[in-house]
Amino acid sequence: MDRQEWTRVVEAATRAPSIHNTQPWLFRADGDRLTVRTDPSRALSALDPSGRQRVVSCGVAVEFAVVALAADGRGTDVDVLPDPADPDLLATVTVTGAQEPDDEDRELARAIGARHTERAPFLPRAVPDDLVDRLQAVAGAFRVWCKRISDEDEEVATVFLLSRAEEIEQGEPEYLAELERWVRTDPAAVDGVPVGAVPGEDPATRPSNWLVRDFVVGTRPPGRAAGSDPGGPPPDVERPTVVVLGTDADDRAAWLTAGRALGRVLLEATVAGLAASPLTQALDWPATRTQLRSRLSLGGHPQMLLRLGFPSGDRSPSTNRRPVEEVLEVAG
Ligand SMILES: Cc1cc2nc3c(=O)[nH]c(=O)nc-3n(C[C@H](O)[C@H](O)[C@H](O)COP(=O)(O)O)c2cc1C
Repeated sequence: MDRQEWTRVVEAATRAPSIHNTQPWLFRADGDRLTVRTDPSRALSALDPSGRQRVVSCGVAVEFAVVALAADGRGTDVDVLPDPADPDLLATVTVTGAQEPDDEDRELARAIGARHTERAPFLPRAVPDDLVDRLQAVAGAFRVWCKRISDEDEEVATVFLLSRAEEIEQGEPEYLAELERWVRTDPAAVDGVPVGAVPGEDPATRPSNWLVRDFVVGTRPPGRAAGSDPGGPPPDVERPTVVVLGTDADDRAAWLTAGRALGRVLLEATVAGLAASPLTQALDWPATRTQLRSRLSLGGHPQMLLRLGFPSGDRSPSTNRRPVEEVLEVAG
């Protein structure tokens, strides 16, 4: 594999979603091997002190690289945490040989460029059960479970913990200062979350139980709450499908694998016309994460809460990435 080919693969890998668009990864290509490291200098010490969400983010990037290579006709072997003495070295992706890509490989690779996080309300159209089954099978291939929250008691518990976590976060000065450091008003910024990609209105005023993260807490001018126009028709209540992805273990290998499964689930969802947005507030805090585990009787550890639905035609813009040269070193 030459520099040009690796550049294309890493371009695809870096389209991965990452917590606060921190892009916490570094790549090194050497012959037929790509190593993926996490970059601790891009850690979120208030929101993610264990680095769990940073490693999940890198797991998605690993999977996007695998998908891009498959569409290029390359088979791969992924070795997770290959060096126990070097925990930031998360994975090596080795090209094992030529492999004729099929239509699905090509579709998934195309979905890398089409996917982005969609926080706007979804259309009032249910996600079909067979599609959820498909996403569960995709995650299951990584031994990652994907549980749909459909039971009313489970929904009430999850919605409560999400709101509780958002409330805790809004009272944490360190969390708020970190969030402010990663929100971008310049649309040309190459990292961080652009204000154009997050709802302008207070998410708490939305006709939805499912609170998307409030990225602009405290900077919103006071005014009439969204959807409160007394003369207008009542807005549709949003009923997204929400799934929890989780793993039996809760260590770096499990986090990375959860990220890989998340990457596949997001691409499959994109191919099926769905959009998604993570709702990870409830998982940021050990207390709410543990409570979610017990209230939903989860047999393992929740790694991602994902809101899924059909997007309206009015999609929010996609978010920039740093240039590949900043994150890829090619040997030789
Ligand atoms: C582990 C992880 C956690 C995330 N948590 C949230 C979240 O709680 N709320 C949210 O709106 N977006 C969340 N995101 C989405 C990121 O903000 C998003 O991926 C990033 O800004 C890049 O934008 P893009 O996905 O549109 O490319 C999360 C992403 C990852 C990978």
